[in-house]
Amino acid sequence: MLKKNDVYNIEIDDLGHSGEGVGRIDGFTVFVEGGIPGDYLKIKLTTLKKNYGAGKIIEIIQGSENRMNPLCSLANVCGGCQIMHMDYEAQLEVKGKRVKETLERIGKIQTTVKSTLGMENPFEYRNKAQFPVGTIKGKAILGFYKKGSHEIVDTSYCYIQAPINKEVVEAIKEYIKDYHISVYDEKTKQGLIRHLVTKVGFTTGEVMVVLVTNGRELPHKKQLIEILTKKVEGLKSIIQNINDKNTNVIFGKETIKLYGEEKIVDYIGDLKFYISAQSFFQVNPVQTKILYEKALEYAKLSGEENVFDIYCGIGTISLFLAKTAKKVIGVEVVEAAIKDAKENAEINAITNTEFYTGKAEVVIPQLYEEGIKADVVVVDPPRKGCEEAVLATIVKMNPKRVVYVSCNPATLARDLVYLEVRGYKTVEVQPVDMFPHTAHVETVALLSRV
Ligand SMILES: C[S@@+](CC[C@H](N)C(=O)[O-])C[C@H]1O[C@@H](n2cnc3c(N)ncnc32)[C@H](O)[C@@H]1O
Repeated sequence: MLKKNDVYNIEIDDLGHSGEGVGRIDGFTVFVEGGIPGDYLKIKLTTLKKNYGAGKIIEIIQGSENRMNPLCSLANVCGGCQIMHMDYEAQLEVKGKRVKETLERIGKIQTTVKSTLGMENPFEYRNKAQFPVGTIKGKAILGFYKKGSHEIVDTSYCYIQAPINKEVVEAIKEYIKDYHISVYDEKTKQGLIRHLVTKVGFTTGEVMVVLVTNGRELPHKKQLIEILTKKVEGLKSIIQNINDKNTNVIFGKETIKLYGEEKIVDYIGDLKFYISAQSFFQVNPVQTKILYEKALEYAKLSGEENVFDIYCGIGTISLFLAKTAKKVIGVEVVEAAIKDAKENAEINAITNTEFYTGKAEVVIPQLYEEGIKADVVVVDPPRKGCEEAVLATIVKMNPKRVVYVSCNPATLARDLVYLEVRGYKTVEVQPVDMFPHTAHVETVALLSRV
């Protein structure tokens, strides 16, 4: 019988959803933050529930052969990178294993799960950074929240962000210090600067800086612009966003352009996208291209097919598919995303797409009732997977192929079973590493009509 706060030795043999190590003590499952498969650890059992426990590492008795010193000295403090202390090849392997095992365990699905497609350089891959701003002993700090808290870790350089962020952070600190600009305090709700958000076009080198402020009046704007334009190469846009609400949501409703353009430009493959302060854009453009090329390969379009892109966001996949489809219909619940999708089609001179705003579980059955059907369907749902009404309508439409892009292997498994028992076969599954050093895994699966 295990006891809370007792000390145990444990061998870690798996990685959990949030990147924590998983092992067993006398057959009882225990999660250990910071543990990786292959570790032999001395732990203190800090949580004991009916079906599982959690422990804290006291000593690494024998470290896994894949254990390494994380490049970032803040990796253990900041909540961003949960598995940076693991060799990158081993990260890819463990992500692939998780997908395969989840499909087998939840869905009893036997299929080919290919090796995870990783990055050649798994650093500096993020094109968007959000830094909360605070103070320590009267000095401005910018960084990330400590794991599971709202305490800011001062971060001058983040290994997974675009390198230009270093210059932007320095510039903002200089502006705050030199002009005695107040910084927002979450407790008192006083102070001006709340967040710094940056966006970088990886292909174009264009940079957008957004300052989120608790109020409209921003002192020394001219000097802010001077500092940023002097320090930040590629700076194309400075935006002020006003958020005076007591909320954890970063952006408020109002944005004011302080300098340059309202939007920056970037490309995924040869497709051009406008990126505004608040619009959604994939944060790892290099891997997005790889993921979408895989989706396109699986869709195997000849130019004759009508394609549905369900949960289409700003239409990135739709536009990829449109090049070789007869027509693509995108469906998405967020109106602003559909506005962007339409604009994106226009700036790329793509004329064979149509976009609908609404819940997929409502719009897709409606389209079917109207006689609008797809030869190939692509879905890219949120973590909870597809609503049953969407899957049921896909089955009725009877497309040749379904391409399923998923950020959650568990709901992917559930939905694949639904389709497998109704006439489809999972032909192949390809995990893609969109977020190196985090526990996140993205997957694209091909289903074919039997
Ligand atoms: C994983 S993202 C897909 C992103 C998209 N493929 C892109 O490239 O921008 C899931 C999308 O589903 C949308 N969504 C969530 N629930 C929805 C629903 N019930 N019906 C339609 N869209 C929904 C979200 O707003 C989000 O844009």
